Amino acid sequence: MDLPPLDVPPVSPEELLGKEFSRSEVEGFPEVSELEVIRHFTRLSSWNYGVDTGLYPLGSCTMKYNPRINEEVARLEGLATDHPYAPEASVQGCLQVLHETARCLKEITGMDAVTLQPAAGAQGELTGILMIRACLSERGNPRKYILIPDSAHGTNPASATISGYEVRHIKSDAHGCVDLAELDHAMTDKVAGLMLTNPNTLGIFESQIREIADLVHSRGGLMYMDGANMNALVGVARPADFGVDVMHLNLHKTFSTPHGGGGPGSGPVAARKVLEPYLPLPVVEQAADGTFRLNYDRPRSIGRVRAFYGNFGMAVRALAYIQANGFEGLRQTTQDAVLNANYVMRQLQDLFDLPHDRTCMHECVFSDRRQAARGVRTGDIAKRLIDYGFHPYTTAFPLIVPGAMMIEPTESVSKEELDSFIYALRSIAQEVEDDPEFVLKAPYTTRVTRLDEAAAARKPVLRWKPSH
Ligand SMILES: Cc1ncc(COP(=O)(O)O)c(C=O)c1O
Repeated sequence: MDLPPLDVPPVSPEELLGKEFSRSEVEGFPEVSELEVIRHFTRLSSWNYGVDTGLYPLGSCTMKYNPRINEEVARLEGLATDHPYAPEASVQGCLQVLHETARCLKEITGMDAVTLQPAAGAQGELTGILMIRACLSERGNPRKYILIPDSAHGTNPASATISGYEVRHIKSDAHGCVDLAELDHAMTDKVAGLMLTNPNTLGIFESQIREIADLVHSRGGLMYMDGANMNALVGVARPADFGVDVMHLNLHKTFSTPHGGGGPGSGPVAARKVLEPYLPLPVVEQAADGTFRLNYDRPRSIGRVRAFYGNFGMAVRALAYIQANGFEGLRQTTQDAVLNANYVMRQLQDLFDLPHDRTCMHECVFSDRRQAARGVRTGDIAKRLIDYGFHPYTTAFPLIVPGAMMIEPTESVSKEELDSFIYALRSIAQEVEDDPEFVLKAPYTTRVTRLDEAAAARKPVLRWKPSH
């Protein structure tokens, strides 16, 4: 990079920053031109794989397309630039966005109240369980345990534990659903409630959900639903109608806001009247004159779970998505997501073991049992899938399926792309039959092949260091 000659006295880093902030070990930092920097980062970005690149069937993550219109709306002057400390009177539009997003989510879930504050699904879980705890404590007995099926997402037991509960697991039955007899046995007067994912992590709708909710309620417990899989229910079924008391939604999954490396999350919590007083502070309300305000005067609230009102931009994107789709569009989305998952499942079940052979919801779960007999496991098949140009499915989750292969195509994919994906997996199944060693060395087309994944996760090297 060419810069004009300095026309002010040079200042040393120590003078500029103070001694404590000037380090000697950054000496030797490579000197590169602007063009080299641009090429470096552009090259790195092209090595990435994202929803905008191709099918991203990462089960349990709902990696759907994020329409660009949402991004444009979230960047609008006024929505993107308002400050959370601005006086209420000057941010009426932003408050209206929050109020309207909450209203839509109430409609979608059938619930009475919504907070948009939690910043992720897991934080939504924590919020909801703390609300249950506050409610039961007020009744004089917070109780000791939360029941969680063995098919639950890992965040569920973590959230229950952080909320001060002990977790008791209940086994799934042969159909992959909650075993009612087990639940009946476990649901004692020491149990605060059940934390249930529906559809569950096997991609199966808990068809006895009404009986499950009735049983929990009849013993004085409350029903928490992990609603991260709402992509299978929006516009078709409302959790409040089948007995759920409190739940979270993942806006960054179901409502198409970018997630993973693409942006922050949002895990709104929806609750029935009985739990409404405990919602985090503040709550956005509309006064009789139509203006919006933040209500902090809620003495039974569990308090704040996050600064300000949550990740505001995520609410904007979700609202844009909901309004662009409308009711019919949202229902169609759900139906397409379910149809796509069932199509994949039926096209592959002759080659891959299907532990629970029933109509699935938005995702399907195979096991690697047949391929494992040839020494090839779910992770190996996933790595070979990269050579065919696809992002891998979720491997080895849920834990109750040995060698799980969890596939969630979402509604964003065309039939042609689904067929290519099915072709890829069918070809890999054949390769496993013909030459398992070949599959075990995959991927062949990437810049790095088999990494030490445990070391990469536990000892990440995230910053450049001089090599001398
Ligand atoms: C079923 C389920 N529950 C909870 C979560 C946790 O959500 P988050 O990653 O936003 O904390 C996820 C994540 O995708 C999930 O799939």
